[in-house]
Amino acid sequence: MCGIVAYVGHQEAAPIIIKGLKRLEYRGYDSAGISLLNGGLHVYKKKGKVAELEALLDGESLSSKIGIGHTRWATHGEPNDTNAHPHRSASGNLTIIHNGIIENYAALKQELLKKGYTFTSETDTEVLINFIDDIRQHQQCSLGEAVRQALNAVVGAYAIVVMAEDNPGLLVAARKGSPLVVGVGNGEYFFASDATPIIEYTNEVIYLNDFEIAVVNDGRLVIKDTSDIEKTPYIQTINMELEAIEKGGFEHFMLKEIYEQPRSIGDCMRGRLNAAEGRLVLGGIREYSNKLTHAERILIVACGTSWHAGLVSEYFIEEFCRIPVEVEYASEFRYRNPVINEGDVVFAISQSGETADTLAAIESAKAKGAIIFGLCNVVGSSISRVSHEGAYTHAGPEIGVASTKAFTAQLTVMFMIALRIAHRKGTIAESKYHQMLVELENIPGKVEEALAVDNQIKEIAARYKEARNFLYLGRGYNFPVALEGALKLKEISYIHAEGYPAAEMKHGPIALIDEEMPVVFIATQDSSYDKIVSNIQEVKARKGKVIAIVTQGDTVIPAMVDHVIEVPATEEALMPLVTVIPLQLLSYHIAVMRNCNVDQPRNLAKSVTVE
Ligand code: M6R
Repeated sequence: MCGIVAYVGHQEAAPIIIKGLKRLEYRGYDSAGISLLNGGLHVYKKKGKVAELEALLDGESLSSKIGIGHTRWATHGEPNDTNAHPHRSASGNLTIIHNGIIENYAALKQELLKKGYTFTSETDTEVLINFIDDIRQHQQCSLGEAVRQALNAVVGAYAIVVMAEDNPGLLVAARKGSPLVVGVGNGEYFFASDATPIIEYTNEVIYLNDFEIAVVNDGRLVIKDTSDIEKTPYIQTINMELEAIEKGGFEHFMLKEIYEQPRSIGDCMRGRLNAAEGRLVLGGIREYSNKLTHAERILIVACGTSWHAGLVSEYFIEEFCRIPVEVEYASEFRYRNPVINEGDVVFAISQSGETADTLAAIESAKAKGAIIFGLCNVVGSSISRVSHEGAYTHAGPEIGVASTKAFTAQLTVMFMIALRIAHRKGTIAESKYHQMLVELENIPGKVEEALAVDNQIKEIAARYKEARNFLYLGRGYNFPVALEGALKLKEISYIHAEGYPAAEMKHGPIALIDEEMPVVFIATQDSSYDKIVSNIQEVKARKGKVIAIVTQGDTVIPAMVDHVIEVPATEEALMPLVTVIPLQLLSYHIAVMRNCNVDQPRNLAKSVTVE
C-alpha cells in the first residue's frame, strides 16, 4: 500500500507533491510526509491525512525544486509521526520514501546495529535507507550504485525514491512488486505510484518494470536494471482526463463513481460491441483466443469485490460456454498447491492490477503452464503486464476505496468474453446470442433507471442506520450480488453484514432473525423467483424486517415485505449489473448518515499491495 510522489525540475516541488499525495490518499492515509532540499535536507511528517501535513507545513519556508512525499498505510510500526515517511539515514545525508515491505529487514538491521547504527522508527524503510547510506559511504560510490547494490541484497517488494543532501538535481527511484510511474516533462521529472499526480503536468510516462532503477541527475534520465544493464525507456502517451480524477460536484468519490456507471459500462463496451451487426471484438485477446475457446477448465483468481465479479463470471461461463469454472480467493490459491494442467486458463480479475495476492496467484499458475488473462482497470498495471493477454475494463480511475464502477465494468467485460467463447464454440443459439448482445447494449440505460431510486434508498438508510447487523440474501446470479452488498456495507459503515445464498439461510443464519434484523433480499423475477418468495416468507414468519429489490411491476413481493426497491427487468444473467446499484447506494447513504469516512474507510486502502 502507500502512495509515493517525487519531483525534480524547475518548479516548486512542495505544491506538486502535496497535490499528488492528495490524489494518492486512496492508497493509504494514516500518516503523510515530505522531504525538501532547502538549505539542507528537511523532513516534515505527521500522523493522519495529508491535510494534517499541510497544517504542519503552514508558515514553513518550503522553497525547493526537488522533493519526495509519501502517504502511508502502516505495515511495520503503528501509524505515528515517527514511523511516517520520508525516513532519513542516520548520517542525515539521505531521505527515502517507500511503498512495499522489506522482508529481510530484521537481518539487515542486526548488521547495521553491530556497526553502531541507531534507529528512531520501527520501520523496515529506515533500515533500508541506512543500508544504502552505509554502502555509499564505505564504497565511495554514486547514490545510484549504492541503491543498486542494496536492492540486490533486499528480499521483498518496493517502490522507492531516494534523494541526497549533497546533490540538488538527483533522484534515484526503483521498483520491484510495487508500482512506479515516471512522468517525463519539459526538463522536469515526476515519480508516482500511479499516473494521477502526474497527468496535470505531462501525459508522457514510463511504467518502470520490476528490478529497474531510474536515476535523474541534472535533468537527464537513465534507467538500468539491478544487474547494471542500461535499458531503453519506453515512453507512453497516456490518455486520462483530469476531471476523471476529481469529484465533479459530488460530495464523495464513491457517489460520483456510483453515478458514473451508465457511462463507465458504456465505455467498456465502446468499440467492442455492435449488437446490430452481431459484432463482439476483444482486441486484447488474439494469440491465445483458441486456447480460451477450447479450454477444458477455467480458473478465476481475485480478491474482494473482484472475487465477487469472478463468481458472477463463473455463472456466465458455465451457462453459455459449458466450460467448468472454479473461482478462488487469490490469497488461498497461491499457498495451497492447486492442480493446474498445461493449457488451463486462468482469469485474474483486479481493479488496481496491483493486488499482491492476485499477482502471486498469477505467478504460481504461470509457473505450472497456465495461460493467464488479466482483467484490470488500471492501464499499465502490474497484472496487465504479467498476463499473457487480457482486457481492460475502461471504467476510468476509481478513487473511492469501496469498489463500485469497477465491479460493473468487470461484469460487462466478463459477459462479453463468455458470449464470445460461446459463439465460437457454438454452445449458444444464434438467436440467444443476438438477444444477449442487444440486452447488453441496453444495460447503461437500465442502470440509469436503477439510479432513480436514490431518494427512496435514503429513507430506508435513515430507518436502519443504527442496525448492528444486516443479512443480504440472493439466489443464482443474485447470490454474488448479496455478497457484494454485504461487503459494501461492512467496509464503509462498519455495520456487520453477511451475504448468503437465500436457501442456505435455513442452515444457520435463520437463527439470527428477529424483529431487529434487516434482511435485504435481491428477489427479481427470474428462474428462482418462486423459491425466493418462500425464503422471504420464512423471514417474515420470524418478524425480520425485509427490504426487497424487485423487478419493476412485481405485485407479489411488495405485499409481503417492509420496503420495496424496484429495478428494471433485464436478462437474468445481466441482473447483477442492475441489482447491485441500490445496494451500493444503500451502503453509501448509511455510511454518510453514520458520519463515516466514505472514501477512506478505517484500516483499508484501495490497492492491497502487501500480503
Ligand atoms: O484492485 P483489486 O480489484 O485487485 O482489489 C481487490 C480488493 O482489495 C477490493 O475489491 C476490495 O475488496 C474493495 N475495497 C472492495 O470494495
